[in-house]
Parts: sequence; C-alpha cells; structure tokens
Amino acid sequence: SARRICVVGSANIDLTFRTPRFPQPGETLTGHALHQGMGGKGANQAVAAARLGADVTFIACVGNDAFGKAAIDAYAAEGIQTTFIRQAEDQPTGTAAILVDDDAENCIIVVAGANAELHAEDVKAASSMIEQSDAVLCQMETPVDAAVEAFRLARAANVLTILTPAPAEHVTDELLALCDVCVPNKTEISALTGQTVETEADTLRAAERLRERGVRRVALTMGGDGVLILDDSGSTHIPAINVDAVDTTGAGDAFTAALAVSLAVSLAEGMTLKESARRASAVAGISVTRLGTQTAFPTLKEVSEWITLKENA
Ligand code: RIB
Ligand code: NA
Repeated sequence: SARRICVVGSANIDLTFRTPRFPQPGETLTGHALHQGMGGKGANQAVAAARLGADVTFIACVGNDAFGKAAIDAYAAEGIQTTFIRQAEDQPTGTAAILVDDDAENCIIVVAGANAELHAEDVKAASSMIEQSDAVLCQMETPVDAAVEAFRLARAANVLTILTPAPAEHVTDELLALCDVCVPNKTEISALTGQTVETEADTLRAAERLRERGVRRVALTMGGDGVLILDDSGSTHIPAINVDAVDTTGAGDAFTAALAVSLAVSLAEGMTLKESARRASAVAGISVTRLGTQTAFPTLKEVSEWITLKENA
C-alpha cells in the first residue's frame, strides 16, 4: 500500500530569472528568460513525494489571492490532500525570486507572506493525519512552533520525523531533539554546528556535532560531492550521479522527499538509510537536469527508467 507522508511547511510562487551571471549592486542585467512555477520547500517536498507514489497530506498556509488558489489547485491535481491548507486573510502567498545563472548556480530571496502564519494550531487540527502517517517532513520557512508541534505528535505516535533545517537560523534545540533524520546542506550544517566544512574530515565532524545536538541520523547533501550519511552504524559517502545541471533549485527538496518515501517503505521492507539515500540521489539528479522546482520532479516510472539507463551507460 502507498506510504503516508505529512508535510508541514511553506508554499511559494517561484519566479525564476535565467541570467548569464549574477548582477552587481547598482547594475541592470538583461536576463535570458522568466519561468513561473510553484515552489516553497514544503510544497516542493509534498509534490516530489506525491509523484513518487506516496499518499501526501500538506499542512500549509497560503494567501487568499489568485496565487494561493492556483497553488491549492495544483497540489490537488497531484493527488495531494489539501484540506489542511489554510488561506490567510491579510497576507499574500509566499513568493521567491530566484536567479539561475549559466553555471546552474542560484541565488534566492523569499518573502514569507502567509507562510509566517502557519502555527501549532494548524498542525493540531491535522493531528490525526500526522499520527496515521509513516513520516512527517518539516523545513524552516514556516514558524518553528508548527514544526515542533508536528514532530511532538509524530514522535508520540512512533512516526518518523525528517527535518530540512533551512533557513538554519530558525532551528531550535527542542526541534533537533525530536528529529530522526536531519537533511542539511553544507551551509546549513556549518551554521548549526559552528564547524567549517572544507575538508572531508570537517564534514564528518560537522555531522557528528549535529548528532550531538540530538539528531538521530544525518544525511548531509553536498551537491556534486554527493551525500554523507551518519547514523549509529557509522558514516557512508554516496557519490553524486553525474548529470548536466540546468537548475539545481529544489534538488534538496526532491532528495528529502524521496528519502522520506524510501525510508517509509523501508520500515516495512528493510531498506537502509544508505540505500534510501542512493535512490533519493537519483531523484535529485533528475531534477537538476530540468528547469524549475516542482516542474522538474520525476515520477516513479521516470526514476526507474533513469536508473536503468545510468546502470547501462
Ligand atoms: O528549496 C527551494 C525553494 O526555496 C524554492 O522553491 C523557493 O520557493 C524557496 O523556498
Ligand atoms: Na531543477
């Protein structure tokens, strides 16, 4: 049967500007193209998980505006349960301005809008969904009290808790202590641990320090350098799959969602964190070959075909 995933987090409209390079202060640059899509770390994870066949409930707050309505319709079209998405009266739907240069690097500015109004009360209203799920996913683009409530309910019900600690400055010790799997990137883990991450030894030390802060397992995503896994059984490095990157925005979200789906399956079938991370790397790898975030996330069928193709290459 399909795995049940609850995502508690942000929903944004992403405006992606393709540009040859990033502008300097005071400079006006001519871009190549504009791409509008649905984004937000929470919504990205919800959509990525749904495409991989999970039964997804998204708990979020959007504006009572055209973008908010369009976002809810888009999630519903993906088969996502949208009952617990609230439309705030006096805040616009969250919006992200994303610059992607010719090297596929990105710079993002997010204005939270309605995301700032998602609180513990909204999560409580969905408590039965959380308790019946296999995994709960949170990120930090919505207030931390909502995430803490979600993880508390999940842990009490023996549901796996997975955290994307982005932006890292909003993470609290209380939240980390409730976290089964934490999925930071290099910037985030160094902000969380005060450990620089230049060498391999650094990254391992940072992951160890994050575990010392209460997290059970760490999956550190390092883009082209792959993923570092650290749990009770020790550390493993999973190399990245070689791809022609077009836009890496949301690749971390695709990875996290895929990891959650695999881990949820693994509860029943014994897939390890390492195997789950391998599969999740393929999902993230596909997503960076395409423009946008949710527009780039693959279906289960595409993932299987892609893995077969890579294995025979
Ligand atoms: O993780 C990628 C996301 O970050 C984008 O979709 C953008 O909305 C920002 O929230
Ligand atoms: Na992409």
